[in-house]
Amino acid sequence: MTTNEVRQKFLKFFEARGHVIVPSAPLVPENDSTVLFTTAGMQQFKPYYIGEKNALKDFGSKNTASVQKCVRTSDIDEVGDATHLTLFEMLGNFSFGGYGRKEAIEYAHDFITKELGLLISYVTVYKGSENVPQDKESQAIWKSLGVADVREEGADVFWGPTGNSGPCGPTTEIYCKPARAGVDAGGRDVEIWNIVFNEYLCNGSREQLDNGEAKLTKLPFLGIDTGMGLERLCAVLQKKESVYETDAFAPGIKNRAQRIIADHTRAATEMMQEGVGPSNLGRGYVLRRLIRRAILHADRIGVKISERFKDEEAKFRKTLAAGLKEFEKRTDPFILFTSYGFPIELTKELAKEKGIAVDTKEFEQAFEKHKEISRAGAEKKFKGGLADTSEMSIKYHTATHLLHQALRDVLGKEVQQKGSNITPERLRFDFAFSRKMTDNEKKKVEKTVNEKIKENLTVHKVTLPLAEAKKSGALHFFDEKYPDDVLIHYIGESLETAYSKEFCGGPHVANTGTLGMFRIAKEEAVSSGVRRIKAVLV
Ligand code: ALA
Repeated sequence: MTTNEVRQKFLKFFEARGHVIVPSAPLVPENDSTVLFTTAGMQQFKPYYIGEKNALKDFGSKNTASVQKCVRTSDIDEVGDATHLTLFEMLGNFSFGGYGRKEAIEYAHDFITKELGLLISYVTVYKGSENVPQDKESQAIWKSLGVADVREEGADVFWGPTGNSGPCGPTTEIYCKPARAGVDAGGRDVEIWNIVFNEYLCNGSREQLDNGEAKLTKLPFLGIDTGMGLERLCAVLQKKESVYETDAFAPGIKNRAQRIIADHTRAATEMMQEGVGPSNLGRGYVLRRLIRRAILHADRIGVKISERFKDEEAKFRKTLAAGLKEFEKRTDPFILFTSYGFPIELTKELAKEKGIAVDTKEFEQAFEKHKEISRAGAEKKFKGGLADTSEMSIKYHTATHLLHQALRDVLGKEVQQKGSNITPERLRFDFAFSRKMTDNEKKKVEKTVNEKIKENLTVHKVTLPLAEAKKSGALHFFDEKYPDDVLIHYIGESLETAYSKEFCGGPHVANTGTLGMFRIAKEEAVSSGVRRIKAVLV
């Protein structure tokens, strides 16, 4: 069966069972700023599990299926073995309150054994913890299907959340025998399918959850989230020793260096197609690491790299030789990173070959600081969120201040600005708020802003010492460092009686009467706990 046949078979199977086929979301997530890349099929469906969006309304079904492009760098050290990839495709079926454990497990069982004709060697189920009960139901379902080897496991079979918060829950995994001894390095059984039962909402990241710093609350309904690695499934089906010998990869990959190059260039190409460029931060840094690691390995085995990697190659070559010399002298990963552009894995890999230990803790700390400094710089640059200073953008900026205050009037003080972006066509305002706004609330906000426009209030500015400025009640970011004297813009007669006051450098219109009619065009989730309003002046 070719890779493409497997894709089609999977989608047809679930379509025939009441699932709506949804296309792969982009690798760069559109509505979740807390993750750099899409790492799972469920990523695009996060709002549906927590009840922020309604699948029945948006897809016409509570059940969906997809073949999702994913990037995962958490396993980067294992890339080049038989089954790990940084870019892979995930076959997944999902349900948002449509069906439960029984159907999810039966579908998977039937697809694996009847459609693909594979044997299940064993499955895992969650053994329970202090806060989450043992998954006895899944155990019983597997037994009823004749799967005898059901293994109880701990944290490894509790999945999620992705990013800073989100749905998560216990899982059951399906393992199959590799067709040839080489699959999964040494003939171990291969994890083919992971079926997650999203029963909980976690208010922090997985790391925070594991450290006891985040809490689980029960979700209103059980969600199903499954993921099956397409490439490794094909390796098993096509009786290949590794994913690199399947038809998903070009033939002729003979050693580990070639595998790493193949994986990294494939992942990097996809990222660049979506507009990601190499840099030292965020997703650009992930891309840079992939390209640079591929270049190093390509050099070693004398492979020519395709045109699109040339730029990055040229940059890296400027410092590569000097960096290698520096590495010989002293292995300081942060200096190698900042002065010679060596991503941390590269230093680790070189060090490992020489049997030297690398202090990654110190590197991580220095790297965190580097990220903070860059972030502060970026925030300063985009203060006010204005893309330009056209007449319309200035109007939208003043309208943003009115909107901010109106949201606090209608929804309460929970509303905190998270971001703002203004173009001459519209304003975009992100704010902390825990749920979708009702139509009535949106109307009230619109009405309030339009009243303040009609009142033709004057916009004033005043500079005050920081302490006094804070005392005035003017809105500002709590975690931001401000100078000793700050500029406040207020809308109304005096600072005391003003309708709106904010720490802000401007620019603003002189009177609100010039703004026109304010209308909310869209209200949506950006990530868990953050809403976005797009509004226009007409
Ligand atoms: N979201 C689950 C995973 O990525 C299915 O393994």
